[in-house]
Amino acid sequence: MKISVIGCGYLGAVHASAMAELGHDVIGIDVDADKIARLAEGKPPFFEPGLPEILTSATASGRLRFSTDIADAAGSQVHFVAVGTPQKQGSHAADLTYVDAAIDSLMPYLSPGDLVAGKSTVPVGTAARLAKLITESGNGASLVWNPEFLREGFAVQDTITPDRLVYGVPAGEAGEHAVRVLNEVYASAIAAETPLVITDYATAELVKVSANAFLATKISFINAMAEIAEVTGADVSQLAEAIGYDPRIGRRFLGAGVGFGGGCLPKDIRAFTARAEELGAGESVAFLKEVDAINLRRRKRVIDLTVAALGGQPFGKKVAVLGLSFKPHSDDVRDSPALDVAVQLRGLGADVVATDPQAIENARSRHPQLTYTESLEDALRDADVVVHVTEWPEYRQLDPVWAASLVRVPSVIDGRNSYDSAAWRAAGWTYKGLGKP
Ligand code: UDX
Repeated sequence: MKISVIGCGYLGAVHASAMAELGHDVIGIDVDADKIARLAEGKPPFFEPGLPEILTSATASGRLRFSTDIADAAGSQVHFVAVGTPQKQGSHAADLTYVDAAIDSLMPYLSPGDLVAGKSTVPVGTAARLAKLITESGNGASLVWNPEFLREGFAVQDTITPDRLVYGVPAGEAGEHAVRVLNEVYASAIAAETPLVITDYATAELVKVSANAFLATKISFINAMAEIAEVTGADVSQLAEAIGYDPRIGRRFLGAGVGFGGGCLPKDIRAFTARAEELGAGESVAFLKEVDAINLRRRKRVIDLTVAALGGQPFGKKVAVLGLSFKPHSDDVRDSPALDVAVQLRGLGADVVATDPQAIENARSRHPQLTYTESLEDALRDADVVVHVTEWPEYRQLDPVWAASLVRVPSVIDGRNSYDSAAWRAAGWTYKGLGKP
């Protein structure tokens, strides 16, 4: 099929490449000329495992092209809208400027039978509003809301073999047409009997935000238990293991630590709360404010533990911060707990030296005042305390004996609870986890 993808960020660039990989003829469109130039050369503008390979093969085959000109969307049967919906300045609501601009600019190039497929995470009610605009324009196109559940670090796999498909479609023949077209787009997933939920716009929009709200709540739940563990001497990791054996609960997303970040979970739960309040249903998701507060308290806890490890005197002490991205296998530093911790420790006068396998460039452009090194060894050398905040394999598997030979003071704050505390203590370290005795 001929497909356009409008917005080539973390979501759109992967979606465009994956659609081409599946055999479609794809044009990726973005207003950022640098980004488009890099993508056209087969170079992803961000780190995502597996993306370089499919981007290179798809651009080489001619099935994937890129453009800054929205007019190049003309002739495609499906137009995926994958632009960002960041948090609005000075408010918790989502900023829909880019979605509205994408739809506006696309409108003159739509033809009868075209499908506009919304992928961006939007406040419930947006699809109905956009559908009305498309209908009123009289171009014969229709709108479907087709949320995306990809995880950064696994985005290619999640797009090519999704765990479910959700189509939010209009009523009647337009809806049936939308289902037929999307089934052709996702023919391989449909053939593999991927679960498919066909629903209305509002449900499709809510599926996405409620999935993220649930995941955020699960993480904050275990982090709240970590806070209780801290005042009772209990061990939150063992607690998570024990409750996780209950299949109704499950062990995944019960990793207590410095908390969640990234371009989705934090802003999505805030936008959800803001939207529910607008709808007069704020009480229903008021708990998400607590989920957010617990999450942010965990960052403060890591900072407090670090300052305590430095005897209350962070000024001029060398703090090695291991990790800057919001999670491993990503270079994304949006709302990253790791970067936040590094910046706040630096604000307290500590001599912060931060390292990360992929995210240094992004972190530096936001916070040039920090000292960065690509070398784990340089970060550790003569450190007065080591703060582990992003679970990259190379940090998780750090040898405590080797690390002890480099630092000035063998003191570690394990912000991801991923070290074997007994092994670290045996190697001479003072070990502090979150919610651990
Ligand atoms: C998330 C959703 O998982 C995905 O379905 C949606 O499409 C976009 O938002 P992503 O932002 O890539 O994906 O990250 P995810 O893997 O969900 O992790 C989010 C954050 O939670 C990370 O900062 C991670 O470190 C943290 N986390 C995750 C924990 O603190 N503990 C856990 O047990 C799991």
